[in-house]
Amino acid sequence: MRNFISVKDVSNINDLVSKALAYKSAPFTDRQLGADKKIGLLFLNPSLRTRLSTQVAAANLGLEAIVFNVDKEGWALEFEEGAIMSGTTVEHVKDAAPILGQYFDMLCIRAFPALKNKAEDYSEQVMNAFVQFAGVPIVSLESSTLHPLQSLTDIITIKENFTAPRKPKIVLSWAPHIKPLPQCVANSFAEWVNAWGEADFIIAHPEEYELDATFTKGATLTHDQDAALKDADIVYVKNWSTYTDYGKIYSNDPEWMLTEEKLLQTNNAKVMHCLPVRRNVELSDEILDSANSLVTQQAANRVWAAQAVLSEILKANTKRK
Ligand code: CP
Repeated sequence: MRNFISVKDVSNINDLVSKALAYKSAPFTDRQLGADKKIGLLFLNPSLRTRLSTQVAAANLGLEAIVFNVDKEGWALEFEEGAIMSGTTVEHVKDAAPILGQYFDMLCIRAFPALKNKAEDYSEQVMNAFVQFAGVPIVSLESSTLHPLQSLTDIITIKENFTAPRKPKIVLSWAPHIKPLPQCVANSFAEWVNAWGEADFIIAHPEEYELDATFTKGATLTHDQDAALKDADIVYVKNWSTYTDYGKIYSNDPEWMLTEEKLLQTNNAKVMHCLPVRRNVELSDEILDSANSLVTQQAANRVWAAQAVLSEILKANTKRK
């Protein structure tokens, strides 16, 4: 593996899940793998889980991780080719990324979408610029359209919790929210579950919340949440803003919040959410505090997902100078 930007960088999802679970059983088996190597974690946006789980994963591999909050501590970066930099941006990514590539053996980047211009966000300008100019492997810590470390974690958690000798019925269910959120987690979850191919997969959302078909192709799509929930084994709850008329909230219909009553229609489904979650807006207290909730286990598994990915990249790459 050279980079980890999407599921397309993974040759075998089940193998990567097995590697992650092996690290969960024995975190320090590859302590020497990252000796004398450094990774830079660049954050253009906030994080709790992604930042700390990746730091712990790096430490388990003997890597030194250095965090840089670019949004708060760095120069404002320019990404437009040919930009006349007479405005607020101070340094072009073409100048900054190669320098960071000299300091680090690997760069991990979080860069959310602005949700103003669909074409710009879906071009993955920031992530692609680092891939193009840094000269070292790049790991997405969530980009404009995808969150692959989250999705790997999600598959790990599903495999831990669903062991029946049949395919699980997995429902990705839209949830209300008070502000427009990116489509990243939903896009990425859909892309990974479809690529994994070991589930009956349904995406339920209100009208006009269709996701990009590039990611959902292979899933069953419905506007009927109750029908989707029937006999579900796993319900993944997540809000996203509109994709077609980009970045809007048409409805924050509280009827779409998952409740204990709705869960009665399922096969005693386990409930997932990537966190952070707005309690009693996206998901009810009664579910989050119940035995059906997997959210803590899911977030804890972020360490093993990150460790599996970092180790695969370390094994496959030597620094190009
Ligand atoms: N799920 C997730 O990516 O959490 P953070 O935003 O806290 O990193």
